[in-house]
Formats: sequence, C-alpha cells, structure tokens
Amino acid sequence: MDIKTQNSAIQDVMADALVVNLFEGTQQPAGATAAVDKALDGAITALIQSGDLKGKLGKVSVLYPRGAIPAARVLVAGLGKPEGFTPEKARQASAAACKKAQALGAKSIASIAHGAGSGNVDAAQAAQATVEGAVLSLYEFRAHKTKASERTPVDTFTLVEFDAAKMPTIESGAKIGQITAESANVARNLINQPANFMTPTLLAEAAQKAAAESNLHCKVYGPEWIREQGMGALLGVTQGSEEEPRFIVLEHGRGRSEKPIIFVGKGITFDAGGISLKQAEGMEAMKSDMGGAAAVVGALRAVGQLDLPLHVIGIVPACENLPSGRAYKPGDVLRARNGTTIEVINTDAEGRLILADALCYAANYKPAVVIDLATLTGACVIALGKNVAAGLFATEDELAAEIRQAGEATGEKFWHMPLYPEYRETIKSEVADITNHGGRFGGVGASAIFLKEFTAYPWAHLDIAGMVLVDKKEDKLNIKGATGFGVRTLVEFARRRAA
Ligand code: BES
Ligand code: MN
Ligand code: ZN
Repeated sequence: MDIKTQNSAIQDVMADALVVNLFEGTQQPAGATAAVDKALDGAITALIQSGDLKGKLGKVSVLYPRGAIPAARVLVAGLGKPEGFTPEKARQASAAACKKAQALGAKSIASIAHGAGSGNVDAAQAAQATVEGAVLSLYEFRAHKTKASERTPVDTFTLVEFDAAKMPTIESGAKIGQITAESANVARNLINQPANFMTPTLLAEAAQKAAAESNLHCKVYGPEWIREQGMGALLGVTQGSEEEPRFIVLEHGRGRSEKPIIFVGKGITFDAGGISLKQAEGMEAMKSDMGGAAAVVGALRAVGQLDLPLHVIGIVPACENLPSGRAYKPGDVLRARNGTTIEVINTDAEGRLILADALCYAANYKPAVVIDLATLTGACVIALGKNVAAGLFATEDELAAEIRQAGEATGEKFWHMPLYPEYRETIKSEVADITNHGGRFGGVGASAIFLKEFTAYPWAHLDIAGMVLVDKKEDKLNIKGATGFGVRTLVEFARRRAA
C-alpha cells in the first residue's frame, strides 16, 4: 500500500473513502469534519441530531455524498471522549475506519490525522498514529492461500492536511508511522509463517533481507561458530533438531563511539517442548515461539530506515526445540558461554537457555542497555492475561519506567514485575550451578531471575508470551494471527533515546 500526504481541503480530495472524525459528545463538528459537513449540506450534523452518530471509539458511520464532493463515500470515525484522548485512540479509530473502508471495497482511502485538533495530540503523533492504524489494520497474511482474498486490497492511503504550515510535521509523522508499522508487519509475516517455512536458516535469511533493505550490518553464524563461542546452552536445545541453529547479529550505526543499545530476541522457530513434550492441543501455535526474534528484526529494520543517530544491535539465537534420539534430556547439564553450569529439569524451559548464551554474548559490546524479548512462559499469560500486557523485569526502576512510557505511547502495555531474591532460591541445583526450572510457583519470576544470572549491565526482560498472537478473528488493530508486538515499543524506546 502506498502512503501519501497531501496539502488540501479534505472535501476536495478524490478517494473511494474519505475519513473524518468526531469526538463523543460533540453536537457541532469543527475543523475538517465541519468542512465536509458543510459540503454535504449538514448531513453529518443531521446524523448527530438523530442520535445515530455518537462518536464512540471504534464506531464508524458511512455517508454517501451523491456528487456533492468528489469522494465516493465519507466515513466518520468515532474518537471517544475528548478527555483522556491518546495517540492509541487515534490509531484505533484509524484502524476501524480503514477496516470499514476496505469492507466496502474502497481501493483508495484519504484521511485526516486523528486527534490533532481538539484531541490535543501533537500533529506529528496524530499523523504517525493514523498511518500506523491504517498499515496495521489492513495487514493480511496470504502466503499459503491459493484463492484470492475476500478483502479487496487498498492501494493508497493519503493523509490530508489543510494547513500548509503543518505539512512538514505531518509528513515526518507519517513517515515514522509507515516505517514503524510496516516493520511490525514484517515481524508478523515472520511469525505467521509456519515452522517448515521459518527454520532458523530461513529466519536468518529473512534477517539478512531486512538488513539489506535498511542499511544494517548483518552477521549470521552457524553451529561451528556457536561451538567455538562455548554456547553450550544453545547447543543443548538445538541438539534434538535436524535443522542447523543460527546466531544472528544485526547492527545499526556500526562504528559510532557510544555504547550500544542491544535488543535480544528468543528465536525458537518451533517449540515442541523437547523430551518434556508439550500436549498436542494447540501445539501449532508454537511456530510463534520466535516472536521475540521477529520483534528484534522488525525493530532493527525500522531503526535502520529511520536512520536514528544511535548505535543499536539486534541479537537472535535461533533453533528448534524437538524431541529425538539426539535430543537433550531432563537431568543433562549444560555449560553456558560464561561458564555457568545448568541442570536441565525441563527441556520445555528452553527459551531461557538459548537466551543465556545470547545475553553473555551481548556483554562483548559493553552495552548501555540490553532488552530481551521472549515468548518465555505460559505462567506470564496466566498472571497478566492474553493480549493484555507483557511482563516487564528490569535491573533498574528507571529503565522499567522508560520502557513502560515508550509502550504507553505505542499502545503496547507492560507490567513491571519483581526480581525478588527469593526466586533465585527456586532454581538452586544439587548437581550444577543452577537449574532451568523453578517448580510450580512463581514461574515467571524464576525465568527472569534465571536470565539475570547471565547479565552484567543495565538489563530488562520482556515476557511477551501472551502478546504475539491474537486468537479472535478481529481485534482493534489486528486480525487473527501475529500482532508484531514489541516492534513499536522498541522503536519508540530508541527514538526517545535518540532525542
Ligand atoms: N514457549 C513456551 C512459552 C509459551 C507458552 C509461549 C504459551 C506462548 C504461549 C516456553 O518455552 C515454555 O514452554 N515454557 C514453559 C516453562 C516451564 C516448563 C518452566 C511453560 O511456560 O510452561
Ligand atoms: Mn518451551
Ligand atoms: Zn518456548
């Protein structure tokens, strides 16, 4: 889909669908909505007066201009109450309008930036959120469909601004929104791809492609290098699989003098659980166990394309977790890159093992901060819910706050959880330095405290297990399948550090 910006009065724009908006409780529309209302001889005000148009968030009303203006349809997107309006509401309103326009068969959509007027959101943020809502909501994964979609593809989305003085701000916001949301869609594609189309090797190739598009430096390492590095935890997990593991490093701003920001992503391209085999029901969802890796690839792609004045590195350990005659077993002892020995209690707690080696490797760069993202525990989904919030652990409260704030701006939620020393007690081992499994209680805390053993720098861990997939047919910005969760927060985090 082409994203454009245009300096015009919205009512003069030719499109299959024009999108304006309305705050809940507004009796007399203002700005662009008022201009369209006037051109339609008061049709919008009439709808408001009839009680049929209330401006509720997520609701969209359709009007037919019948020649009064060049556009074929006018869509009025509800923004909800003006008090407490946020860019996330602009994103959701835009998504609802775009989904509606698409359902009506519109190939071209022209929209104003939501919330820049009475919403008190600055014009750049409004433009960014409106474009993100469009790009995210119109996403579809059809790689394995042999029949055409019933959803007509939208070819162009044009953001329209009346005030010429605001155009540079609108253009820059739209560009940030486009790059960020398209990068989230790149992550969604990687996650939606089944494991036979997204092996560690293919994931590494996808990372190389993203790097080529975004001026990133990219290195991909195989099993020999992983062995030379002493990454015994990653080697243990990959042992049961016929697919070779990969260790992927993406880098933006290589050669810059400052300490890098590092993002690490869990890249289990399929998690059967290994010898501690998972139950069959729902196991197909474990193709998404590389959701952290996908978020890191997506975020680096965006950081590269935005060309942020920063040094940012993405690290992805990638392998499969399968049972086989060669697979690692409960009771096995693995030796991580930093020499720590790990007794494997449960082979299904594999994410923390591959991350342990990656977190050790990150120390080489003397990072300013390391943030890892992982679909790490079912316990986190039990604690915080499905598609509600990701678990957030951090060695410093300031870092946790920084991530939460970046998340808030993007509409992605993170809940700060404790790294209590008591959790460390639960992963004590009789035979090795630590175990990979803390038992029935406090499973999220145990997983995080395990990872902490391998960090020696400011560090945060994001457990995104409940966030990478949506099971419902439709959900605000998403359709069933991958969400690309984490990409937008990481990009926002980096943009704020660059400011
Ligand atoms: N990939 C899973 C976690 C997961 C569960 C992600 C559900 C998404 C949805 C992870 O590797 C895992 O299997 N975790 C185990 C850990 C346990 C054995 C300590 C879990 O959560 O059950
Ligand atoms: Mn597992
Ligand atoms: Zn897993």
